[in-house]
Amino acid sequence: MGLLDPVVEAARLLRSSRYAIVFTGAGVSAESGIPTFRGSGGLWRRFRPEDLATPEAFQRDPRLVWEWYAWRIKMVLEAEPNPAHRAIARLEEAGLVKAVITQNVDGLHRWAGSSNVVELHGSILRVRCTRCSYRSNLARVPSEIPPRCPRCGGLLRPDVVWFGEPLPRGELERAWREAGKADLVIVVGTSGVVEPAASIPLIVLSHGGSMVNVNPEPNRYTGLADVEARMTAARFFSLLLAELGLGDV
Ligand code: APR
Repeated sequence: MGLLDPVVEAARLLRSSRYAIVFTGAGVSAESGIPTFRGSGGLWRRFRPEDLATPEAFQRDPRLVWEWYAWRIKMVLEAEPNPAHRAIARLEEAGLVKAVITQNVDGLHRWAGSSNVVELHGSILRVRCTRCSYRSNLARVPSEIPPRCPRCGGLLRPDVVWFGEPLPRGELERAWREAGKADLVIVVGTSGVVEPAASIPLIVLSHGGSMVNVNPEPNRYTGLADVEARMTAARFFSLLLAELGLGDV
């Protein structure tokens, strides 16, 4: 745990790292206006995840699940990357960050310009058919709820990972490979409670790598991280860019 200013410590670790990666959760998008799931103000305070983000919930009441997703899709379509997303993309351009592994489904890292992005939980702006192989990006909230497949008439679902479902194999293996190569992981805006995603940053620690934990409140990585930055993502990355002399975003 660095005794110095966490931003100064993080900049030192980043400058001396060989292969740094960033691991993000809902908190990195909070300042884009997208509510987190847990913690103060989180989505789950109003909804029960098991009533909405599970295959059983969808089976039982596809309309209810789709009404919730339509509301989230609208929020995501109206959101923009915030300074944290933009700074992470700038760090990749500068060669200081090699990959972003995200639990988020909002696509804001790619939109901000990050190119090597692993989306562990899929994308809320993509739908797929529950019956055939049809898959499509969404440019707007579906007009019909629940939406039907134009090819076979089957129910469409959000192309995201629900509780109890496996993560996309290719993405999970990419994440394991990136973490296996990393000597520094910057963990941003995650409570770290949902597996198997939450164990990915621990892979970096397991082979002697370092960890910076960026979160306004304690989380699962507090106490494990070398540097604890108890602040919001946008503030941390704005200060980090300045510390690295990379200007602002
Ligand atoms: N900057 C950084 N972190 C923030 C900010 C902010 N401005 N605001 C809130 N946070 C922190 C919260 O303190 C919390 O610890 O972001 C974290 C968000 O945690 P969760 O809401 O649990 O989100 P996440 O960890 O990404 O959830 C993992 O759970 O519901 C499933 O599939 C969903 O991908 C999601 C997974």
